[in-house]
Amino acid sequence: MRKFKIGIPVITPDGKELLPAGTVVTGEVIKDLIASNNRSVKTYPIFDHVSLKKDLREFLSTPPYNTIFSDKGEAEDLFTFIDDIKVIEPILQFMDYFKENDFYTYRHILVVFALTTMLSRLILPGYEKRLHDSIAGPAHDFGKICIPLEIMKKSTPLTRGEFRCVRHHTLAGYVLLSYYLKDSKNIASVVARDHHEKLDGTGYPRGIQRIHPMVEIIAVSDIYDALIADRPYRPVSYDNRSALEELTEMAEAGKASSNVVRALIARNRGNRPDHRKFHLSLAKRGKAPENNNYGIRKEDKKD
Ligand SMILES: [Fe+2]
Ligand SMILES: [Fe+2]
Repeated sequence: MRKFKIGIPVITPDGKELLPAGTVVTGEVIKDLIASNNRSVKTYPIFDHVSLKKDLREFLSTPPYNTIFSDKGEAEDLFTFIDDIKVIEPILQFMDYFKENDFYTYRHILVVFALTTMLSRLILPGYEKRLHDSIAGPAHDFGKICIPLEIMKKSTPLTRGEFRCVRHHTLAGYVLLSYYLKDSKNIASVVARDHHEKLDGTGYPRGIQRIHPMVEIIAVSDIYDALIADRPYRPVSYDNRSALEELTEMAEAGKASSNVVRALIARNRGNRPDHRKFHLSLAKRGKAPENNNYGIRKEDKKD
């Protein structure tokens, strides 16, 4: 991996500092961190943990997810599939932390997990055999545990400085997951690092062209939920049509995968068309709401 300086300390859910802010993250640094972890990795069924299953059912019963997951048989099949997914304990701690401290992020993690699991089964051949890849879903924002809560829960748009800090959740998640899974090439570590990259190389943290199909699915699901979700700093969220329009524009501009965007739009239609057989429409379906604040940054205060 290219050298990269991390701007925030990397801290585990139980409070251990793995790397101080300002560390240049090299392959060597990651190798040493992995070597320093002599605990074995225990995994637990995700749905056995407190109320995760019940909470997810509740989140999926609200629009637009009640349409996307409206086929009862298919939804039950998805829940049965997720029943077999096991995750490491720190990921459960991370979810508990956000359930208690920032419910918006907790909801986001679970919804993106369901969405990516559903889309992966639809798009990636043989996905069922790669059950372990599914942990990348709930783990994609793991690094947000290192972002101060006052930034995560801000009720006004982020300043550029605060946004620079938030961007480091990608690298922090990569470091944490590489450490816990003792593997920097694991799909969960790669997804945590690359889910804000774009197909055309205009994303962050590295500005690379993301190519992994699982990263692509999580990236599109992540943007979709970020657009439609309520956030404290956002008086109005995107309506569903405008959010799909935004993603269609990203696909047309070569920033996001057309195949994934098409699959998401197909799930939003009652008649469930085959996503491989229809084209993304150029016609405007909606427009970004005013006061949405998505992507808006304020200047930092100069004192
Ligand atoms: Fe993220
Ligand atoms: Fe996210």
